[in-house]
Amino acid sequence: MISKSNYGCMSIIILAIESSCDETSAAILKDGRVLSNSIATQEVHKAFGGVVPELASRAHQQNIIPVVDEAIKTAGVAKEDLSAIAFTRGPGLLGALIVGTSFAKALSLGLNIPLIEVNHMQAHILAHFIEDPMPGFPFICLTVSGGHSQLVLVKDYLVMEVIGETRDDAAGEAFDKSAKLLGLDYPGGPLIDRYARQGDSQRFTFAKAKIPGYDYSFSGLKTSVLYFLRQQLQQDGDFIKNNIHDLAAGIQKTIVEMLTEKLVLAATDYGITDIAIAGGVSANSGLRQAIEDLAGQHQWRTFFPAFEYCTDNAAMIAMAGYYKYRQQEFVSLDIAPLARMPLI
Ligand code: KG4
Ligand code: ZN
Repeated sequence: MISKSNYGCMSIIILAIESSCDETSAAILKDGRVLSNSIATQEVHKAFGGVVPELASRAHQQNIIPVVDEAIKTAGVAKEDLSAIAFTRGPGLLGALIVGTSFAKALSLGLNIPLIEVNHMQAHILAHFIEDPMPGFPFICLTVSGGHSQLVLVKDYLVMEVIGETRDDAAGEAFDKSAKLLGLDYPGGPLIDRYARQGDSQRFTFAKAKIPGYDYSFSGLKTSVLYFLRQQLQQDGDFIKNNIHDLAAGIQKTIVEMLTEKLVLAATDYGITDIAIAGGVSANSGLRQAIEDLAGQHQWRTFFPAFEYCTDNAAMIAMAGYYKYRQQEFVSLDIAPLARMPLI
């Protein structure tokens, strides 16, 4: 265990590394304030219609040093000023996580400063504490990304309970897989969002899974979209092209309704009125609008991180690292990444 710590007498400066999927990111946080947040997005996956794990690992390996250098330079700090290194331990693609984990371990060893492991899903939630306005405890966070869909009861910065989650595909996957069926590029979520803005969401309806409790299931949606498109394309080869806006609007409405129905149920049952959303899908304009509309009906206060902090970024990892640093929650250098990592 590395014991050097300057907590209590100097500023806390955290360098954070994120490499769980297809963004290589590094950030510097000083006393809870983001000084830099550098992100290299891997374009290589576009041609494959999804993230190719092996290519992601190789791209992280190429990007990590330039991204860290940029984050340090932009922040205007020296490596010697760093209090600790925080890194994403999981969940994510193992080969991708290994790159960030190994880099963080090497730097921690070289600079003789503490190492902090961070859960990527917890960090998505802590993105809410990067900027004002911030939710009050307890709040419910709907965390929706390409790999996860969770309803989390957040009791404190580091005390969280998953009360509902997807049993199969994540909401982001539902967007991306449906988009692929429409012939759209990866990631398709933002494209569906864009087309849906000019579409009629009532024209095409898709079946919603009926799962008890607060859990979700999205795998049926892509099958429902697939069968519907197959049938229509037999009669009109240009069906998708001629109806892309309405199709996108119908798919988006179905996903948003599935997400918000369980959110309302959980918020009502738990008597919670501070509602937050996090993860890449929280950038979706239809979801944001639906939650704003529900806020009016249920007297909720709602919280959406700035767009740059919704998708994968190291600033949120640094935020989690900062709260862990204050509790002196450090790990030793034999730590290994985890593809699956429970929130608690
Ligand atoms: O959190 P994130 O950046 O990475 C993961 O940890 O997965 O989330 C990426 C997911 C992708 O599935 C992407 O299509 C989706 O977020 N996404 C969106 C939008 N922006 C990103 N989905 C719907 N509407 C958007 N505007
Ligand atoms: Zn994420």
